[in-house]
Amino acid sequence: MDRSVDAVIIGMGYVGLPLAREASAAGLSVIGFDVNLEVVDGLNHGRSHVDDVADADVAEMLGRGFFATTDAGQMRRARTIVICVPTPLSSDGAPDLGLVRVAIGSVATHLQAGTLVILESTTYPGTTDEEIRPILESGGMTAGKDFYLAFSPERIDPGNPNFGPKNTPKVVGGHTAACTDAAESFYSHFVDKVVRTKGTREAEMAKLLENTYRHINIALVNEVARFCHDLEIDLWDVIAAASTKPFGFEAFRPGPGVGGHCIPIDPNYLSHRVRARLGYPFRFVELAQEINAAMPGYIARRIQDQLNLDGKPLRGSLVMLLGVTYKPNIADTRESPAIPLAKTLLQQGASICFHDPLVKQFSVAGHDISRADDVDQSLAAADICVLLQNHEDYDVEAMAAVARRFFDTRGVTRPTHNVQLL
Ligand SMILES: NC(=O)c1ccc[n+]([C@@H]2O[C@H](COP(=O)([O-])OP(=O)(O)OC[C@H]3O[C@@H](n4cnc5c(N)ncnc54)[C@H](O)[C@@H]3O)[C@@H](O)[C@H]2O)c1
Repeated sequence: MDRSVDAVIIGMGYVGLPLAREASAAGLSVIGFDVNLEVVDGLNHGRSHVDDVADADVAEMLGRGFFATTDAGQMRRARTIVICVPTPLSSDGAPDLGLVRVAIGSVATHLQAGTLVILESTTYPGTTDEEIRPILESGGMTAGKDFYLAFSPERIDPGNPNFGPKNTPKVVGGHTAACTDAAESFYSHFVDKVVRTKGTREAEMAKLLENTYRHINIALVNEVARFCHDLEIDLWDVIAAASTKPFGFEAFRPGPGVGGHCIPIDPNYLSHRVRARLGYPFRFVELAQEINAAMPGYIARRIQDQLNLDGKPLRGSLVMLLGVTYKPNIADTRESPAIPLAKTLLQQGASICFHDPLVKQFSVAGHDISRADDVDQSLAAADICVLLQNHEDYDVEAMAAVARRFFDTRGVTRPTHNVQLL
């Protein structure tokens, strides 16, 4: 049996591709497995579709022997298999492990004795042991005895120039101590620091604690932003002052809502699990969800209030949205709060256009929103311009100076006669 491949990484997305690059750069032989033929073909032709991985990185990986494939049979050759497929929510807001189950099903079909299987996809505590292990053991092998099984949460922060897969400590929790040893040894090839947990549940929970902490703190400042506006207190000034405390305070900033694949989704995995298993709510998360999800509606109301100052109704006014991605300097619009905001504005009869240096096409509820290619002209033509994402390409002060009304939801500018801050 050919077991010459160090790692097969399943899911060549925002998580799997940077991981493959790091492992390949450290000298491991790596194959990327994905069910999307377009992604596989693109990678094999040296094209990256992920912000933090350049085409040149893919070319280097290919030069070192990496290739992408849709052939699950390649998993038989792997000493380690890492699963990085999406874990979304179903239409009723419950965890949807469908893609993980499909991926694990393929792994089980091709599982060889001695292989290390690691799940990286974010999920609720208990998944590795209760959902993954039985599928892998269905062929007669036993985890911890015939093969190794571990969970290691991905902590990637797309667009972060300071922390990447190598210098972000990697948490690993195995089904047995030997499984943790195997996972620690695998990641030690290309991650500076590996942190061991007692087991898989602790590793799964660590990731959810990190994301829930962010979610709740963002909700806290979002709620404070609303009453500070009513009390005529400049919250941005408040945060700047509070941030000077050298201990016990970490600054979070308000915004138009939360987006991306993690913050709006992962805490649901946890609250759903607590409710389904224990029958009681995880109140902090549910409250944070309510507050953060209400922000796009609040932003729409603030837009309406500012148009009102000019005697204009929202219906028929032109609103320009600046930056429609869920975070600055990346091209990802998944779960972006710009989407519910645009939906609300359209429902109220506003005309909208958008600009984003990283996004060519922005569709909301089946409508293609028109893209402002001549930014200065559109800024001047719109009844109000709303900064949703502060991309580094933006000269926000200059944009605000051209606009008739400018609503800065990111606290970049200072209030003036035509500029309001969240
Ligand atoms: N994007 C982030 O910033 C981030 C950060 C931390 C954790 N995570 C977690 O990592 C996991 C992966 O997220 P992502 O952002 O990389 O997703 P992604 O959508 O960018 O990529 C997932 C890839 O998996 C492929 N795929 C789906 N089902 C498959 C299957 N059965 N077999 C093989 N390939 C399959 C898709 O075609 C896609 O290319 C999720 O659980 C997510 O919550 C994401």
